[in-house]
Amino acid sequence: MIRVGLIGCGFMGNMHANCYKNIEGVTLAAVADVRRECAEAVAEAGTAIYSDGKDLINNADVDVIDICLPTYLHAEYALLAMERVKYVFVEKPVALTECEAKKMIEKSQSTGCNVQVGQVIRFWDEYVVLRDIVASGKYGRVVNANFRRLSPRPDWGWNNWLLTTSLSGGAAQDLHIHDIDYARSIFGEPKSFATVKNIIGEKNSYVNTVMTYDDFVVGVEGTWDLPGSYPFTATFRVVFENAVVENAGAGFMLYTKDGAEKIEIEKKQLAGGYEGGNISDLGGYYNELVYFTDRVRAGEPIERATLPEATESLALVLKEINYNA
Ligand SMILES: NC(=O)c1ccc[n+]([C@@H]2O[C@H](COP(=O)([O-])OP(=O)(O)OC[C@H]3O[C@@H](n4cnc5c(N)ncnc54)[C@H](O)[C@@H]3O)[C@@H](O)[C@H]2O)c1
Repeated sequence: MIRVGLIGCGFMGNMHANCYKNIEGVTLAAVADVRRECAEAVAEAGTAIYSDGKDLINNADVDVIDICLPTYLHAEYALLAMERVKYVFVEKPVALTECEAKKMIEKSQSTGCNVQVGQVIRFWDEYVVLRDIVASGKYGRVVNANFRRLSPRPDWGWNNWLLTTSLSGGAAQDLHIHDIDYARSIFGEPKSFATVKNIIGEKNSYVNTVMTYDDFVVGVEGTWDLPGSYPFTATFRVVFENAVVENAGAGFMLYTKDGAEKIEIEKKQLAGGYEGGNISDLGGYYNELVYFTDRVRAGEPIERATLPEATESLALVLKEINYNA
């Protein structure tokens, strides 16, 4: 049985707890939150409850530590967790600054701790299929691509940390990083990029970047500058020489000269059920934690959504934030 210690039981901690409850051979051995009622809400019978992440790190009998704390606390707690266990999961963005992320890489090297970062889009079904289509080359070369992520303002954060740009990095660092990281994972580092951002309103709450590669361009747009009534939207369109693959209003679709067809994906039915969050099922969150716990079980290193990869994605987003047209 893999014994998980979960630190931070807010929005994402809840999601992770639901995932672990649906993975066989995994138990939520300990949870920590400064709001005790949040920790109690995700705890199961027998789960040890701590009122601070450091108490859990120092005292809990766990094999792995999963950090779902506000971004500005990631580095501090991850560095301590890496001293205690051989596997750590830390939510995205990996850290608030590149300097912190680099310290985390150094600590993982000195301790031998395996770290996975919650760059969950790499594990999201439609995006996994897209990655395989791009790699196969079966529709020819990529001509252009577009990724969008549009969200209502996230007003749920503990002490409003999400909407405090100095603590979260704003929509650019918190939301848009998902698509930047994914695009980097399938296309690599762009040759150059250009970014436009909000001129009035909240800093970094709207970002639109065009990345240029050798023979194609990729647009990535993200914002949380939208009212609560606006539906959370994550879409992509990739134009190949001989087809278009799109995940948008019509669903996950393939368009070729022969017509349009739906790309079918088998969605896993979860035994424990799930309701909540801004998604219809546990989707990529479940997939990424299945991968994580599989690696723990096998005693193998983490090879997807690694600390160095997440650090490179963070570095690019920070360059976008500081980009001046
Ligand atoms: N992968 C995704 O799609 C996704 C989505 C949302 C959030 N996130 C990330 O997850 C992380 C958490 O975000 P959230 O939305 O869950 O925030 P949140 O504010 O809902 O939850 C954070 C929790 O941490 C607790 N906390 C604060 N300090 C603590 C401490 N010292 N010890 C223990 N608990 C403490 C708070 O009480 C709160 O419950 C962030 O890095 C965020 O960017 C990822």
